[in-house]
Amino acid sequence: MGGLLKFITCGSVDDGKSTLIGHMLYDAKLLYADQERALELESKLGSMGGEIDYSLLLDGLIAEREQGITIDVAYRYFATENRSFIVADTPGHEEYTRNMAVGASFAELAIILVDASQGILIQTKRHARICSLMGIRHFVFAVNKMDLVYYSQKEFEKIEKEINEFARKLDLRDITVIPVSATNGDNVTNRLNNMNWYKGKTLIEYLETVDVDDALMEEGLVLPVQRVCRPDYSFRGFQGQVESGCLCIGDEIEVLPSKQKAKVESLFNTDRNVNKIHEGQAVTIKVDREIDISRGCVIVKDTSLKVSDTFKSTVLWMDDTELMEGKSFLLKLGTKLVPATVLSVDYRIDVNTGEQIVSDKLNKNEIAVCKIGVTEKIVLDEFEKHRSLGHFILIDRITNMTAACGVVNHVMRRTDDLFWQEMDVTRNVRANMKNQTPLTLWFTGLSGAGKSTIANEIEKRLVIAGKHTMCLDGDNVRLGLNKDLGFVEKDRGESIRRIAEVAKLFNDAGLIVITSCISPYELDRDTARKIIGNSNFVEVYVSTPLSQCEKRDVKGLYKKARKGQILNFTGVNSIYEMPSNAEIVVDTTYMGVEETADYVMSKLDEYLSLKY
Ligand code: ADX
Repeated sequence: MGGLLKFITCGSVDDGKSTLIGHMLYDAKLLYADQERALELESKLGSMGGEIDYSLLLDGLIAEREQGITIDVAYRYFATENRSFIVADTPGHEEYTRNMAVGASFAELAIILVDASQGILIQTKRHARICSLMGIRHFVFAVNKMDLVYYSQKEFEKIEKEINEFARKLDLRDITVIPVSATNGDNVTNRLNNMNWYKGKTLIEYLETVDVDDALMEEGLVLPVQRVCRPDYSFRGFQGQVESGCLCIGDEIEVLPSKQKAKVESLFNTDRNVNKIHEGQAVTIKVDREIDISRGCVIVKDTSLKVSDTFKSTVLWMDDTELMEGKSFLLKLGTKLVPATVLSVDYRIDVNTGEQIVSDKLNKNEIAVCKIGVTEKIVLDEFEKHRSLGHFILIDRITNMTAACGVVNHVMRRTDDLFWQEMDVTRNVRANMKNQTPLTLWFTGLSGAGKSTIANEIEKRLVIAGKHTMCLDGDNVRLGLNKDLGFVEKDRGESIRRIAEVAKLFNDAGLIVITSCISPYELDRDTARKIIGNSNFVEVYVSTPLSQCEKRDVKGLYKKARKGQILNFTGVNSIYEMPSNAEIVVDTTYMGVEETADYVMSKLDEYLSLKY
């Protein structure tokens, strides 16, 4: 088995980890190199060998480093006659979980040290659990210090049995247990006469021969698109590295998430025209028709990759501040970067015992099963089935730090599994019973512009005219339904979305709805219009200028905002985007309540009579 093997060693302080690595390097007359040199060498190997997925290394190290994680992991490069290796050495203490996770994210195999005189410790289980979570599928348990138990076969078999039981619980698939003595080198690189009862491979023989080519587990062609290449108007190619499978000219491919299909017209490997491309190659593909592809899309053929916007995952929380449900991030999965929200923390997993603990919060170094939603459908798969598209990081939107890493356990189909239920009593029936056309009157404008006052007057007049109404006032809704929201842009957007959805439900109930909220962003108002439906939506812009609103300052909030006591106050330190397509515009500077309401009612009459 040639090629590069990337592995991690995990052990507690006195397990003899450094001795073990030292012995391997020394006995195999290995080449030392520092971390930078190792990376350099690996990059060279990658581009020549073609088989190495060096993106994993880059993703695992460089991307994380860019994210600001202090990596306290030592990487050593070495080679024997049969194989090249990079080993990541990380401290084993609990507070170094993040380092171990970073080291493990790069590795294909983990050597977990067990002290033969102590047997399996809680730490051993923790290490194995983190490695497994980070995607390692191949484990070697090196039962070290066999000399201290007099090379006893019985002692070894006792520990081996324990390891097997625990590995079954953790669902570790490929495990090998080797008795070693790192100080003497027994079964590390040499076979001395101390353990003749052991017939298996020495550690280095095992490392030289182990097959970690997990890509074979993936079916069909998978090519995540890294770049759309457009050197001139006549050429449009899609570039990326073939993660698995192969592709020929004339083959039909599918692009996810759009599911558009096309035929391959030409293939390039660097600047050479080729007929076929293989796993590991960096390629440019040109197809026979115009299709919509951008970075983050995946070109596939004969795969079962999924497209979804919600999934269950196991995450390792690495940020100093605690994770709470509802927090949003940027999620990086494969080549895709997309806004995401932790919809729920289902339970926490005790890293040491595996126990599930009910909790909706997560502290640094803790692992939990969470539901995550993203703002658009992305291509992903269960981590079990597909390593690179089942593995993600969460990036804090403010600090730009990697806050968590995780794996996809189960892809959910949030909207695909939901079906609109037709009811016999419809919106029309309800509206007709009330003898009215449901509408939403959406009042927007600065705080103090007069929105609520006019909204109140309009509702009174409609009720007097025998109409059935409901009023949703921003401040009031914020005391209940929206009490979890603040005034940052994202929260205002969510507030508007909720108010719009509620308004729509009231319209479905046959009511005329009047909403009164600042709704400062055009995008959010447009979203509301879409949710409610353009033909039921009447936007009323109360255009009273800031100077006038501030002069009135009914609630004293402008004064506070100017003193810096309120952050993000609309008009003072947060913007208000003027509506460009409001159906009705009123300025209350020179018009009293009655006069303004008369004007709105006259306009509204047009709408209502139009719709009768
Ligand atoms: S919106 O921007 O999200 O539409 P909304 O209408 O719900 O705002 O709430 C606005 C009301 O919240 C204001 O009338 C004021 O009483 C209060 N408020 C508190 N803090 C702020 C702030 N930073 N910006 C604007 N309004 C605020």
